[in-house]
Amino acid sequence: MSRRKVNVGLMGLGTVGTGVVRIIQGHQEDLIKQTGMEIEIKRILVKDINKQRKITVDPAMVTSDPYEVIRDPEIDVIVEVIGGIETTREYILEALEQGKHVVTANKDLMALHGAEILKKAEEKGCDIFYEASVAGGIPILRALVEGFSSDRITRMMGIVNGTTNYILSKMSEEGASYEEVLKEAQELGYAEADPTADVEGHDAARKMAILSTLGFHVDMNLDDVSCKGISEVTQEDIQLGKKLGYEMKLLGIARRDDDMIEVSVEPTMVHHTHPLASIKGVFNAVYVYGEAVGETMFYGPGAGELPTATAVVSDLVTVVKNMKLGVNGRGIVAPYKEKQLKNDDQIMSKYFMRFIVRDERGVLAKITQILADQDVSLEQVLQQPYNSGKKAEIILVTHEASRKNMDTVVKQFAELDVITEIKSIYRVEGGEKL
Ligand SMILES: NC(=O)c1ccc[n+]([C@@H]2O[C@H](COP(=O)([O-])OP(=O)(O)OC[C@H]3O[C@@H](n4cnc5c(N)ncnc54)[C@H](OP(=O)(O)O)[C@@H]3O)[C@@H](O)[C@H]2O)c1
Repeated sequence: MSRRKVNVGLMGLGTVGTGVVRIIQGHQEDLIKQTGMEIEIKRILVKDINKQRKITVDPAMVTSDPYEVIRDPEIDVIVEVIGGIETTREYILEALEQGKHVVTANKDLMALHGAEILKKAEEKGCDIFYEASVAGGIPILRALVEGFSSDRITRMMGIVNGTTNYILSKMSEEGASYEEVLKEAQELGYAEADPTADVEGHDAARKMAILSTLGFHVDMNLDDVSCKGISEVTQEDIQLGKKLGYEMKLLGIARRDDDMIEVSVEPTMVHHTHPLASIKGVFNAVYVYGEAVGETMFYGPGAGELPTATAVVSDLVTVVKNMKLGVNGRGIVAPYKEKQLKNDDQIMSKYFMRFIVRDERGVLAKITQILADQDVSLEQVLQQPYNSGKKAEIILVTHEASRKNMDTVVKQFAELDVITEIKSIYRVEGGEKL
């Protein structure tokens, strides 16, 4: 390739787009040294061309017409940082149709339409990279695709949503309620005015769909990820968990046992000895267990202008290197394993359970009988007086049990006369050797 310059069409000049411009401008010399090419932003797409921007760009580059960017024959690479799903899908498919390579930070799009987009890129011999879509500045997708390519990953557990980790960390450290901390997070800009996608786990589920597709080589749909958010987590759950040695985290869990797969997002009691228990605030972390390598963990900022833009521009560097070598589109590895999802009787986990009982003789015998009938044994038991003292609160941590058996336990507990209220039940991770 004799050309000395690569032209980029930047779609979006918001938080991430601004960072992309800053990094391309600020690191130009390093980028030229690494790629042998100058990387130049030729056009920028925005919604409102009259909006005041945080950085100065040549107004002649800016447009609100997406096709001026996508169909510009001189543009080699599209960087998509506008967000959204359906319209953006059309833009990206059209850009690939035009033979342009694509870098995107869009997890919503890749979780929902990733297979279609990868197929189109492969057909057209184009690159498609989306490192920034999961865990912002942490190069976890590259680690899965390249770093672990010779290993067999059996577990991935991630704190992949900074908003919920901020809320749970604050609740744990300051004793404040979920509602109080959410309000504060919204005031600080850590949570959206409508926090549903974050607090109900949808954002994390999208990221876990992407991680498990790449880590397990199966075509994992969003519908395959079971999902529960943190809006029902109480201060009491968190403090009682702590008493027994656990930190509450919204955990994405992807696990493979004999090629049977489970992927979920749910509030989880993480044992304090597990490295994920110490991840505080808006930070992200992904724990990966490979059969050969053993335990690894990737930690860093999951969002923000420059961390996210670094991931985007690093993808861009890979595209440019591939252009020089003439190998674009050849690195795409489509999922090649058959997807086999576990049933509820194959999903094994330890559980934390908390309920209120009448404080009378024979109560524990009834409870342990139900547990024994479902093959559930106990690792920890805590009993303490509740309110007036006529009742007691019992907190159990079980050994590994199937989800199916635990569902039966909960159903039978709910029917038991001596149990007056089931307060909560959470999955438990950590505290054992893998
Ligand atoms: N922010 C983060 O830390 C972060 C981290 C990881 C991934 N991401 C992903 O990166 C993407 C961008 O996020 P962001 O935070 O940078 O968003 P943002 O600040 O809201 O910026 C979006 C940009 O896209 C433009 N835009 C939006 N819809 C458009 C449309 N239909 N046509 C033309 N232009 C349009 C907006 O134009 P105007 O400026 O004129 O409104 C704005 O410049 C999203 O997919 C997000 O999930 C973000």
